Amino acid sequence: MPNYPVDMSVTPDVKAFFDPDTNTISYVVKDPGSNACAVVDSVMDIDYAAGRITYGHADEMIAWITANGLKLEWIIETHVHADHLSAAPYIQEKLGGKIGIGDQIMVVQDTFGKVFNEGTEFQRDGSQFDALFKDGDSYQIGGMTAFAIYTPGHTPACMVHVMGNAAFVGDTLFMPDGGSARADFPGGDAGVLYDSIQKVLTLPDDIRLFMCHDYGPNGRDIQWEATVGDEKAHNIHVGGGKTRDDFIKFRTERDKQLGMPRLIIPSLQVNMRAGEVPTDKDGRPMLKVPVNGL
Ligand SMILES: [Fe+2]
Repeated sequence: MPNYPVDMSVTPDVKAFFDPDTNTISYVVKDPGSNACAVVDSVMDIDYAAGRITYGHADEMIAWITANGLKLEWIIETHVHADHLSAAPYIQEKLGGKIGIGDQIMVVQDTFGKVFNEGTEFQRDGSQFDALFKDGDSYQIGGMTAFAIYTPGHTPACMVHVMGNAAFVGDTLFMPDGGSARADFPGGDAGVLYDSIQKVLTLPDDIRLFMCHDYGPNGRDIQWEATVGDEKAHNIHVGGGKTRDDFIKFRTERDKQLGMPRLIIPSLQVNMRAGEVPTDKDGRPMLKVPVNGL
């Protein structure tokens, strides 16, 4: 495991934006020493039944960044999401910044390029993104050093991004009472997810963890922030000393009972293109539905 450059003395301002339609939390993360910021896991709105895409959620983030005089340097995707569409290109067009994701995106593009029967014009080399991160790669947000930890299992391209004393865990972990994300998508693996979670739990106990999703289990209010200490002690799927075998058994049985996420078909087609909507042969935005293909 690389020697990750954790710096707990840096406390970025983290502003969360909750999307009630997909239960996604997007973040704007500001370098405490400058006006530089990053966006993590943005959302583009879709009314799938109507085939209509809108930008209310992204506009709210853009307005907040603009009102606070921030300079957007990075637009990070923790992974190719299967439950919401990314607004990365829309935000980039308005505010600039580089779009980054894990370099295993190529595996995801290869898998879903086949599922959606994409032609050769769909590049499977990650070239739709501005930056592809490997485990331990670091980058700057103003004066703050951020880095990526490779955390496959939910998908083969998942990464956790650490910025000062804040870590954006994507779907690697949920709140302690939410447990963990499913591991049954193509390229997912429950044992690998367990190992990735253990890697995250080697970060300092008081590091702030920010989730990508929360569903308010048992009727509680939506929450998105915990610490490594909280997760180790209380996470219902991996905390309190649960073993790898316990986790694999539980996760495999649970995943068999889960239906497909409502927006998986549009989400994958858009997100594997870094948030660009695919077009038909005449250049019109168009999505496909592979029948019995997933
Ligand atoms: Fe996900």
